[in-house]
Amino acid sequence: MGYKKRKEGVIMEQKRENWGSRIGFIMAAAGSAVGLGNIWRFPYLTGENGGGAFIVIYLGCVVFVGLSIMIAEFAVGRRTSLAAVGAYKSYSPRWTFAGVLGVLSAFFIMGFYPVVGGWALAYIFKSFTGLLGAPEAIGDAFGAFIGNSVEPLIWMVIYLAINVYIVAKGVAGGIEKAGKILMPMLYVLLIVVAVKSLSLPGSGAGLEFLFKPDFSKVTGQTFLAALGQAFFSLSLGMGCMITYGSYLNKQEKLPNNALIVTMMDTSVALLAGIALFPAIFAFGMEPAAGPGLVFVVAPTIFAEMGGMGVLFSAIFFLALMIAALTSSVSLLEVVVAYLIDERKMARKPAVYGTAIVMAVLCILSSLSLGALAGVKVLGVGFFDFFDILTDKIFLAIGGMLLAIFTGWFVKKEDLKDELTNGGTVSFGLFEAWYVLVKYVIPILIGIVAVMGIMAIEQTSLMIFGLLIIVVLAIFSNKL
Ligand code: PFF
Repeated sequence: MGYKKRKEGVIMEQKRENWGSRIGFIMAAAGSAVGLGNIWRFPYLTGENGGGAFIVIYLGCVVFVGLSIMIAEFAVGRRTSLAAVGAYKSYSPRWTFAGVLGVLSAFFIMGFYPVVGGWALAYIFKSFTGLLGAPEAIGDAFGAFIGNSVEPLIWMVIYLAINVYIVAKGVAGGIEKAGKILMPMLYVLLIVVAVKSLSLPGSGAGLEFLFKPDFSKVTGQTFLAALGQAFFSLSLGMGCMITYGSYLNKQEKLPNNALIVTMMDTSVALLAGIALFPAIFAFGMEPAAGPGLVFVVAPTIFAEMGGMGVLFSAIFFLALMIAALTSSVSLLEVVVAYLIDERKMARKPAVYGTAIVMAVLCILSSLSLGALAGVKVLGVGFFDFFDILTDKIFLAIGGMLLAIFTGWFVKKEDLKDELTNGGTVSFGLFEAWYVLVKYVIPILIGIVAVMGIMAIEQTSLMIFGLLIIVVLAIFSNKL
């Protein structure tokens, strides 16, 4: 492993890019994990699924499934020093499709993620321009905003341009630097809002909702939501952590790093819960408000706070935008790394070309909430199309394939070697981890994925998603 050596701007030695420092890698990987999934999705899923009991099950999924898969992704990435597609391919061309599926997932997630990122960006500014002036109109204003044919597109393009700027600068110079600055900022901003929320009279009920589990609310659906959320939130199942692991030097202890990233991700989700629910209960609002929770309920709460509310609102949406940014950067990087590793493209054209196609997908997604609402692809609008295809089908199957690949196709000695840095550091839980990855997790994800896929209402979309995977698998040798 070596660093790219530059002399007078000319690349002398085309070696793989590497993270500049350990803390840089951790901030970038945590930055990928911490995103809309934590601040937008986690609170509304918790609200919809009864609070504390959902959180307990979610934490179980994170510890027993998520953490193990993250360790596996880091190991496969660093072992091969290749991004997702190359990593799989280097074992056998039969497996190439699993990596390509990951790249496709990243691509499709980027078909809607920047739209929501753009909303967050817009709401930072809207906080100051009268959004909070009429609390009763906040819901309608949100609906009108996302359905507009021009305004959200402009914000999305600005948001995507920031991504392009960061990823074009490369692994150490762009992604790592952004993570190192933005992640600590995110923590501070969220803590500020959480302290304010906890200080409101009547906030205790929110804490009780979050941390006092009521297991009577638990159904099969709760497990599905919890496992799916663990995958999405930890950026697993699509080769993102394989790619980030591939830029990691051989001295790093993989299990430790995975543990730190997982703990950071979980703490931000809980912090977002603590920032929102005490205030939701203090103002007697509805915890099960669904995806609108962050964009409608949160501003309403800030409006109720009076003068300082504007500031808290801006801080909150800045935190949301920052969290989204470090994640979408990682999604863009998955596709870019594929083009660099497998298609031998240079970084800059890879970034620009990919972003242009993503922008087109995002325009369709955004318009599908307004002007193009009538246009359906396999029964749903573009936004839902990309969301359902990735969240419900690709990520779960991607995670299962990774577990099967790691447990059954990568040699056990190789894994041990990688996770103990050639026997120089200890990983006491290796055997337990191996059993989990080889036997328990594939079965567990298998059950949950099948249940989740069966629950998709649009049969044609479900068949389409599965068909893509089958076709990729058949032509795996040719990819
Ligand atoms: N983990 C991100 C979030 O919680 O918002 C989303 C994500 C990023 C998923 C990168 C998958 C990924 F590879």
